[in-house]
Amino acid sequence: MQELLKASGGLNLGMDYLPGSIGFDPLAYQVGPEEAGRIVWFDAVINNVDRSWRNPNMLVWHGDLWLIDHGATMIWHHNWPSAKNYGTKPYDAADHALAPFAPDVAAAAAELAPLVTEELLTACAADVPDVWLADEEGFETTGALRRAYVEVLLERAAGVHERISFGPPTAAAPSRAPGWLADRLTPRAHATNATNATNKDGGQ
Ligand SMILES: Nc1ncnc2c1ncn2[C@@H]1O[C@H](COP(=O)(O)OP(=O)(O)OP(=O)(O)O)[C@@H](O)[C@H]1O
Ligand SMILES: [Mg+2]
Repeated sequence: MQELLKASGGLNLGMDYLPGSIGFDPLAYQVGPEEAGRIVWFDAVINNVDRSWRNPNMLVWHGDLWLIDHGATMIWHHNWPSAKNYGTKPYDAADHALAPFAPDVAAAAAELAPLVTEELLTACAADVPDVWLADEEGFETTGALRRAYVEVLLERAAGVHERISFGPPTAAAPSRAPGWLADRLTPRAHATNATNATNKDGGQ
């Protein structure tokens, strides 16, 4: 911890430490389609490319899932001239750690997209300290850069659920959970759906 603090000069964002949490293990922890859908949808909005079955970047703490490590998100901010393409860019979730849990992204979008308003995103961007935004090439002011974040995120939140795919591997995204892992996970996703159906029907 001391080493991390020393290596991270300047202004830092401090967040809570979750003592006693354990790394999410898809074979040991069951996730329902609603929660899986909300997480996949959120990752699609922020274009998270680092929550795969190889590296889930989730913790389990007091029985709940906690999302950590959002360093590989909003990757358009490494190349702002291309950022406008990201508003409508598809999200390939074939590799996502929660893909085998039958994520209900349509339900998640219906619930969450209306909450991600221009006002909310503008307020979030306003909370980012100036010093983290200053001197970005192509932007005269930090206000213009804040606005650029708002525009991409707003467009993604509005429509990305139509463009989330769980399809087979492609040349661009060649890997997904290997067969031995997928085989163990798939029956769990079906079991979760069956449990929900039973509950809806008023069964045990
Ligand atoms: N117990 C915890 N409580 C709160 N935040 C945590 C905890 N463990 C990790 N984090 C947060 O998640 C961030 C990333 O942790 P993570 O374990 O993913 O490390 P990493 O360096 O990305 O390694 P990996 O390549 O395995 O993902 C940490 O910098 C920290 O902010
Ligand atoms: Mg990590």
